[in-house]
Amino acid sequence: MAMDRYVITGKQRLEGTIRVSGAKNSSLPLLAATLLAEGSSALLEIPQLADITHMIEVLEHLGCKVVRQNEALLINAGALGSCDVDEGLMRRMRASNLILGPLLARYGRVKISRPGGCAIGSRPMDQHIKGLQQLGVKVKEKHGYIEAWTDKLLGADVYLDVPSVGATENIMMAAVLAKGITLIRNAAREPEIVDLQLFLNKMGAKVRGAGMDVLKIDGVESLHPTEHTVIPDRIEAGTHMIAAVMTEGDVLIKNVVPEHLEPVIAKLRQSGAIITLMDEAIRVQQRGRISGVDLKTMPYPGFPTDMHPQFMAMLSCAEGTSIITETIFENRFQHVDELRRMGAQITVEGRTAVIRGVETLEGAFVEATDLRAGAALFLAALAAEEATVLEKVDYIDRGYENLEEKYSHIGAKVVRV
Ligand code: UD1
Repeated sequence: MAMDRYVITGKQRLEGTIRVSGAKNSSLPLLAATLLAEGSSALLEIPQLADITHMIEVLEHLGCKVVRQNEALLINAGALGSCDVDEGLMRRMRASNLILGPLLARYGRVKISRPGGCAIGSRPMDQHIKGLQQLGVKVKEKHGYIEAWTDKLLGADVYLDVPSVGATENIMMAAVLAKGITLIRNAAREPEIVDLQLFLNKMGAKVRGAGMDVLKIDGVESLHPTEHTVIPDRIEAGTHMIAAVMTEGDVLIKNVVPEHLEPVIAKLRQSGAIITLMDEAIRVQQRGRISGVDLKTMPYPGFPTDMHPQFMAMLSCAEGTSIITETIFENRFQHVDELRRMGAQITVEGRTAVIRGVETLEGAFVEATDLRAGAALFLAALAAEEATVLEKVDYIDRGYENLEEKYSHIGAKVVRV
C-alpha cells in the first residue's frame, strides 16, 4: 500500500490558535481497562488515530462492542468471546500488550503474540511479566506467543527494575481485582498513570499513589463501567510549542495541562522562547534565533524521550552547539540521517548526539521512520527554506490527529498527497 506524503513550504510564520487532542498514551491503557468491567463505559476525547483504531480492533476481536456516539466512544465489554490475540493484530502496535493485565484480572487467561520490536529499539516485556508472576500468574513463552493464566490473583509487593510505563499500567490493571494489597515500587510517574488511576477508581477500584513512585492497590471483588474524559496529549502540545518557536511565530495552544509540560517549558525558556502559561492554555512567542541547550531524556518528570526528535529538529537551527543524551531508547536516532539531508549538522556517538546549529535548514526529500521522527521532520520542514517532501506520513498519523488541517489553520503551507 502506497503511503501518503506531505509537501511543505517552509518559512511561513505560524500565528493563531491550535487545540490539542486527547492523549494517545492515556487513551490506549484506558481502552484496555474497559475490559475490567461488564457493561458499557464511555470515554471522551479519544483521538482518531491509527493506534487507537488498532486498539479498538483488538477489543472487538475479543468480543467488545465499540461505537462512537457524538463526542464519546462507548465500549461494551459485556461477554467476551476470546482471550487470544493473534499475530496480525499484535504486530501492528506494541501497546496492545496492555490487554494482558485486564484479561488476567477478569478471566484469568490470555494468549498474545509477543509484540514485535520497533524502529526505536528493542522493547522488552520482562518487567510486565515479572510483576504479573508475582501476582500469581503462570507465564509460558513459546513460538513467539506469550500465554498466561492464573486461578487467583493475589496482591504482592512488586519492585520494577526500571519505571516502565506499560509495566506499571499492566500490573495496576491486574492488581485492582486481585485479593489483597499490591504495592508497585519504582512505578512510572507519568500523567498517564494518574489518568488511569482516576479511571480505575471511578470504576470502583482502590488505587492510590499515582504520580509518586509507590502505588498501593487494594484489590476489590468487581468493577463497574464508568465515564471519563482523557487528559490532553502533552507530546502533541510540546510539538506545537516547538513549531511556534521554529517559525518565529505566536501561537496559543489550547487544551493543555501546563504542569505536564514542565521539562519542555523549562528547556524552551532556557533557549530563549517567550512562554506564557494560562489555566488550560500556553502561548508561545519567538523573536529571532533561539540558542542551543543541552538535554537528557529521563522518566517523568524528566525530559520526555517522545520529545527528543522534535527538540533535535529545533536545535539543528539554533545558535551554538547542543547535546542531546537519550537514556530511554538507545537507538532512537533514526531521524538524524533525515535531518542531515535538510542541512543539519549532527554527529552521534553512542547515546549522545552533538548538534551544531546551522543558520537555516533547507527543504529536501525525507522520510518518516517512526512517529516522533516524522514529527521532527515535519517541524524541520516548517522552518526550512523552500519545499520539503515528507514521505511515509502514515507514521505521523499514529500520533497526530488532523495535523495538516490544524497547521493550515495557523498559517502553515502543508498539502497531503
Ligand atoms: C510508553 C509510551 C511511549 C514512550 C515510553 C517512554 C505508551 C503507549 N507509550 O511506552 O510513547 O516513549 O513510554 O516514555 O504509553 N523496559 C524494560 N522492560 C520492560 C518494559 C520496559 O526494560 O518490561 C524498558 C524499555 O526498554 C525502555 C524503558 O523501560 O528503556 C521505558 O519503556 P516503557 O516505559 O515500558 O515504555 P512503553 O510503556 O512501552
